[in-house]
Amino acid sequence: MTDRYSDLERRRQAAELGGGQSRIDRQHDRGKLTARERITVLLDEGSFIELGQLVRHQFSDFGLADSRPYGDGVVTGYGTVHGRLIYVYAQDFTVFGGSLGRAHASKIVQLLDLALQNGVPVIGLSDSGGARIQEGVVSLGGYADIFLKNTLLSGVVPQISAIMGPCAGGAVYSPAITDLTFMVESTSYMFVTGPDVVHTVTQEEVTAEDLGGAAMHAERSGVVHAAYPNDVVCLEAIRTVLSYLPQNCEEQPDIHTSYQPPGGATDLDTLIPENPNKPYDMHDVIRLLVDRGTFFPVHDRFARNLICGFARMGGHAIGIVANQPAHLAGVLDIDASVKGARFVRLCDAFNVPLVTLEDVPGFLPGTDQEWGGIIRHGAKLLYAFCEATVPKLTVITRKAYGGAYDVMSSKHIRGDLNYAWPSAEIAVMGSKGAVRILHRAALKAAEDAAALEEKFSRDYRERFANPYVAAEHGYIDEVIHPLETRDRIITGLQMLRNKVLSNPRKKHGNIPL
Ligand code: HXC
Repeated sequence: MTDRYSDLERRRQAAELGGGQSRIDRQHDRGKLTARERITVLLDEGSFIELGQLVRHQFSDFGLADSRPYGDGVVTGYGTVHGRLIYVYAQDFTVFGGSLGRAHASKIVQLLDLALQNGVPVIGLSDSGGARIQEGVVSLGGYADIFLKNTLLSGVVPQISAIMGPCAGGAVYSPAITDLTFMVESTSYMFVTGPDVVHTVTQEEVTAEDLGGAAMHAERSGVVHAAYPNDVVCLEAIRTVLSYLPQNCEEQPDIHTSYQPPGGATDLDTLIPENPNKPYDMHDVIRLLVDRGTFFPVHDRFARNLICGFARMGGHAIGIVANQPAHLAGVLDIDASVKGARFVRLCDAFNVPLVTLEDVPGFLPGTDQEWGGIIRHGAKLLYAFCEATVPKLTVITRKAYGGAYDVMSSKHIRGDLNYAWPSAEIAVMGSKGAVRILHRAALKAAEDAAALEEKFSRDYRERFANPYVAAEHGYIDEVIHPLETRDRIITGLQMLRNKVLSNPRKKHGNIPL
């Protein structure tokens, strides 16, 4: 038997060497880890069990008969993150540039099937030249098989993608279908057509970095939810974000029993400026409310007028959606609406309660927004909040104007607990706009129009745009002191832990895409 054991060992070693030492060195020279190194960083130590290590392609055209590396350019298997099972695949750029052929695709599909049957999250680490040219349409079919499985898995188990090298052509659509897509700066890019094709078709000169680099996607396109400086930081982020999500849609996120309250919480009552038009940073509110150091931002560089992210309060995982007065006055625009809608649906799919912190002057006016379809995009956020059945808690810190009041998880769209701080201004519109409409004639006739407008504005804010009118109607459950907020949210999360609410039976809703 000794020969047979040595033969097994020889094959295993060959598989582990992927495309060979020189290609591994090239990968390292570029600041990238290999597929196996990435899996080692991602998973708990020693937990990885590989599947399909000895799979090889069965093609012979274009010289493929002479090159049949084990694994076919992707390492697949399972292991644990913080003790919880996950499936993982990592494309191996050292083998055919990580390109995807039949065998490669079948290995990924096998994992996605296992994920569906066992209710376990899947992590995909992309580093690939795309469809394997030599395998032609068969590799395109392989991609389509993956897209279908990603779609069927959507909302069943969390799917997270990290782009850690090239990702071009239709290959981008698998990460795009998954729940969260992360990217590594400088070493990765995503585009449907590369700079050469762009130049041929449009005569535009653009670099790969500008066209589809991490900074562009994190800030402008919103295709990726976060960008990280290197592979290790990116993989650590995946470990962290997994901790906020359950294994599948039937389970609740874990409650952490050990957590620390935020430091400096007493600063909360001095955060809102006296001047209602002065900005403040909603990140400070979040920091002073959540368990210490637990905020995990999602899309933090995109549509910064809305903050989305996971956090913990009293050990409970939550999804935070918060207007950001420090950016565009916290207004809702097209990008913020789409960003928020997607995040709300992610939380709702995986039973993560939503905590909404509201300070919103309304939707952004202007031709750009109207022509760009703010109506249908804004409707996405409205639809997402309406549809969500997870516990929904809202705190109005300052402005809640117009349609944005309704949209931001109001009581009317099944908000469970809606609180307002005494600084809240809840009204059809801001005082300036309202006064100019209601008192047009008086202002026109006045000698000192500015002083009169100021008087009317103050009167409007005191009489109409305060939280007590809404509280009288029962639209606000309680007007609370800012220092009571953390306690109200944590006890609310406990009280709503067993909430059962379902939407009417249907094939699926028709969210305004
Ligand atoms: C087969 C490929 C390959 C591919 C790279 N390789 N891409 N083999 N099919 N698609 C091989 C190379 O021949 C080389 O083999 C090794 O991988 C490394 O590639 P290099 O070119 O040496 O590396 P680099 O200089 O870093 O350039 C990487 C690259 C480039 C930018 C990804 O290889 C490239 O442009 N590849 C083609 C990308 C592409 O157009 N793919 C199709 C996209 S369309 P050796 O043996 O020399 O190491 C698509 C459709 C999907 O994917 C549709 C889904 C619906």
